[in-house]
Amino acid sequence: MTIQNQGARHVAIIMDGNGRWAKKRLLPRVAGHKAGVEAVRTIVRAAGDMGLEALTLYAFSSENWKRPEDEINDLMGLMKRFILSDLDEFAANDVKLKVIGDWRALAPDVVALIDKALERTSGNKRTTLAVALNYGAQDELVRAATAAASEGAITAEAIEAHLDTADMPPLDLLIRTSGEVRLSNFLLWQSAYAELYFTDKLWPDFAPADLQAALDQFARRERRYGGL
Ligand code: FPP
Repeated sequence: MTIQNQGARHVAIIMDGNGRWAKKRLLPRVAGHKAGVEAVRTIVRAAGDMGLEALTLYAFSSENWKRPEDEINDLMGLMKRFILSDLDEFAANDVKLKVIGDWRALAPDVVALIDKALERTSGNKRTTLAVALNYGAQDELVRAATAAASEGAITAEAIEAHLDTADMPPLDLLIRTSGEVRLSNFLLWQSAYAELYFTDKLWPDFAPADLQAALDQFARRERRYGGL
């Protein structure tokens, strides 16, 4: 089934609220993250069906290292299992995996797994799934500006060409779940003209109908890019 979406090519999501989802059910935080992975799976499928070219998900920020070691290990374990178990589905559904952020600084087994998954899906064309891992927008901008400076003048075009998202369509819509209204160091440059959409839904409860509602609202908003 292909559901039409009017014009959005690239959507990004700050997946927040896994911990609160678990707490409400008197479950450990890891149960919330597990439910969060299920939501990732459903939303990736829906994004393809809705005709999105790219979906960028904030899975682990450069600030998430401040969390307890056990929770970090749980998150990394879930990430590895997700990649291992869903690679076949990506291949079948023409999903190209991409990872943004300083992911090469992660544990060697995670890096090796990601490298393999990137290679395996590199020829896929329908939807790009970009997972932000050890990502921070300020760090991305420092890296991009440094690379631009090493080639000559630091212009907006040169910075943009060195962003982790350089080969992706411009960001149209940024969604954050769980009622928090901030960007938390996510895609700061790319959000310059993106529409922002905040919902109280906790990430594990975020369903395809919620993505559709965000896209519907995007279609109703008039983007002027600073013009009249
Ligand atoms: C925020 O909820 C969520 C995260 C820090 C991690 C997001 C990770 C996943 C959904 C699972 C793995 C991702 C992929 C791509 C397989 P929180 O823990 O900050 O929730 P809280 O604010 O309610 O405590």
